[in-house]
Amino acid sequence: MTGPRAYGYTDTLDAEHYAKALRADIRGGLTSTPKSTAPTWFYDARGSELFEEITQLPEYPLWRAELGLLQLHAQDVAALTGARTMVELGSGSSTKSKLIIEALGPVDLRYVPVDVSADALHQASGQLVQDYPGVRLHALRADFTNALVLPAMPEEGPRLIAFLGSTLGNFRRPGRGAFLRGLRNLLRPEDYLLLGADLVKPEHEMTAAYDDGQGVTAEFNKNLLHVLNRELDADFDPDTFDHVAVWNSAESHIEMRLRSRVEQLVKVRGLDLAVSFGRGEEWITERSAKFTVPGLEAEMSDAGLRTQQLWADPSAGFTLTLAKAV
Ligand code: AVJ
Repeated sequence: MTGPRAYGYTDTLDAEHYAKALRADIRGGLTSTPKSTAPTWFYDARGSELFEEITQLPEYPLWRAELGLLQLHAQDVAALTGARTMVELGSGSSTKSKLIIEALGPVDLRYVPVDVSADALHQASGQLVQDYPGVRLHALRADFTNALVLPAMPEEGPRLIAFLGSTLGNFRRPGRGAFLRGLRNLLRPEDYLLLGADLVKPEHEMTAAYDDGQGVTAEFNKNLLHVLNRELDADFDPDTFDHVAVWNSAESHIEMRLRSRVEQLVKVRGLDLAVSFGRGEEWITERSAKFTVPGLEAEMSDAGLRTQQLWADPSAGFTLTLAKAV
């Protein structure tokens, strides 16, 4: 790198955070019944690439539905909020952020992308400051699933906290309520939350979105095994697992699972752990909740969030909600 960075950067995670969280989650998840681990670990470089591919699949309309809603309504968000700071949780690829940044007016806008991945933050930030030299960007490396503390920012008008992509669906109840309450507590009276949420649809559409014809989602799911082999010196053979996507109606979420084709004992040397799988045993690798509009509004209201405006896409498969703290 030549010269100083064109953006601010604060790292709130200690160097061992990722490794510690991975070890704790995998040890806990693979020794419980049923086996169940967090979706966080899919996203190494290969996993992030596969997720980008998923967003382009015909079976996975979620990502495009939200993009369409932002194309239609980013101007409304700007007019309603008058925000001069945008905080984005799980910033990832910046296509959608750009739509909001442009609508809010990039000159002198403060933009705070928040992510656990330093690489993702630097890549997106470097690109954004080039595209929008007027934006004052301060990247924050933080785990927003734990208590999030924003960097000190001078008082300069309303803030918009954006949490897009239906990532909220990765939280289960009752933890989801506590998480929403935490978001609400970040909001001052003049601030807004912009939340993207995927809606319940006919079951075959929901399962197809997580089990596409080209097998991209299957590869994404199995990428977890490659990550664990590398990071925890495990000896998973991806060919001995099948990708499964199931709709759990009681919990209103899709479950991605890995089903062991054979009875086997897998060594996870980094954890000094041997994990046995029965033939046909299924391990839950991700839960992705789907919402109804009244259900979502009730959850938000329980968390002290009042809906100001709700936009749904034409097929009502996805919603964007703009909310304020009560
Ligand atoms: C990024 C969590 C919203 O749950 O739809 C896509 C991740 N997993 N296909 C989702 C995902 C399988 C995605 N989120």
